[in-house]
Amino acid sequence: MNLNLDYVRKQFPALSGEWTFMDNAGGSQTLKPVADRIYEYLLNTNVQLGASYQVSRVATKRVDDARKKMVEFVNAREDSEIIFGSSTTMLVRILSLCISQNWKEGDEVIVTNCDHEANIGAWRDLEKKGMVIKEWRINPDTFRMETEDLKKLLTDKTKLVAVTHTSNILGTLNPIKDYAKVVHDNGSLICIDGVAHAPHRMIDVQDTDVDFYVFSFYKVYGPHMAMMYGRKELLLNMPGINHFFITNDDVPYKFQPGSVNYELSYGLMGIEEYVNGIAKVHGKEGSFRDNTEFSFRLFAEHEEVLAKTLLDYLNPKNNVKIIGETNYSKDLRVPTVAFMVDNTKSDSIVLKVDESKIGIRFGDFYARHLIDDLGLAERNGVVRVSLVHYNTTEEVNNLIVALDKII
Ligand SMILES: Cc1ncc(COP(=O)(O)O)c(C=O)c1O
Repeated sequence: MNLNLDYVRKQFPALSGEWTFMDNAGGSQTLKPVADRIYEYLLNTNVQLGASYQVSRVATKRVDDARKKMVEFVNAREDSEIIFGSSTTMLVRILSLCISQNWKEGDEVIVTNCDHEANIGAWRDLEKKGMVIKEWRINPDTFRMETEDLKKLLTDKTKLVAVTHTSNILGTLNPIKDYAKVVHDNGSLICIDGVAHAPHRMIDVQDTDVDFYVFSFYKVYGPHMAMMYGRKELLLNMPGINHFFITNDDVPYKFQPGSVNYELSYGLMGIEEYVNGIAKVHGKEGSFRDNTEFSFRLFAEHEEVLAKTLLDYLNPKNNVKIIGETNYSKDLRVPTVAFMVDNTKSDSIVLKVDESKIGIRFGDFYARHLIDDLGLAERNGVVRVSLVHYNTTEEVNNLIVALDKII
């Protein structure tokens, strides 16, 4: 079954403009059903939550319902496992501050040299508190995070491993279920950055058996906010970061100092409407979770065609090196494709592509360690084309025409 792109693209008003968006790993376009809800919330129910009067009850229910929907979206067990925050960077920071209060000097944390800095820096900073930070390094030949390398770093002092589900540069799908098994067998915890993964694949925190999973909605067709899933017993067993009268049992509130953003939270219900709408136009109707599974499977199939079109063009070129998985298969990668061109700085390519009104991007994308360790900093990082399901083969072909004048 082919994804109904006509339906898909109508849900994103920005796609009818003159620009083609291929910097989606930086931020995706926003769904109209999301924007409509934000607008509606602000104009009609913009009051403080938790009061007895009717408008406050409506507002409270809206934010509560959004959290419930996100329980289904990631397959968590209950509402208290979903923590809303302003960004992934902030949520990982809150987690590191809270969880490390239960750790002692000499305890170990493993970070990668492949992640976005959001899931590295907050952990590395614990060195100042006496914790030992170890680095799990990418295999520079395969661009993979090998499980065998992780095993060598684990000790009886390892408290947590922080790793990405999918790198925002390489696009390679990491086997986080395997990582989680190895980490848990060692008696340690695992924190996954799912930011570059969540726009492309359904998340299942129970099946992958991870302890913490964080991602940002502005890359998943929603607003500028983020969420963290945390396993409930772990959340209960660490101190929070909220006022003294917010009790330890009050999860997720003890990790949400101040108010969450109400209107943006309510906006998340627009993601549900979209996913349900996709299922319906393809003749399928089920629960939100069923529809999520169905829709994201369709997205992955379409994305594979996009990745194939681009990689079939780039792979044979002798002067181009793909930084990441060269195979287009949806079982191996998402269509976030980074590459280098011999003897050419990455910015010069992107600036020329801009002239065709196609938005791509160059740089390190805050995966600074990865770009430094691969020796790509002096070339101004990689060229990154990051596609999502609303992109079309025609758009990719237009990009190829633009690139072909340059490389
Ligand atoms: C893989 C990855 N992790 C984390 C982040 C940070 O997300 P936020 O801006 O919500 O802090 C980004 C942002 O680009 C990202 O690509």
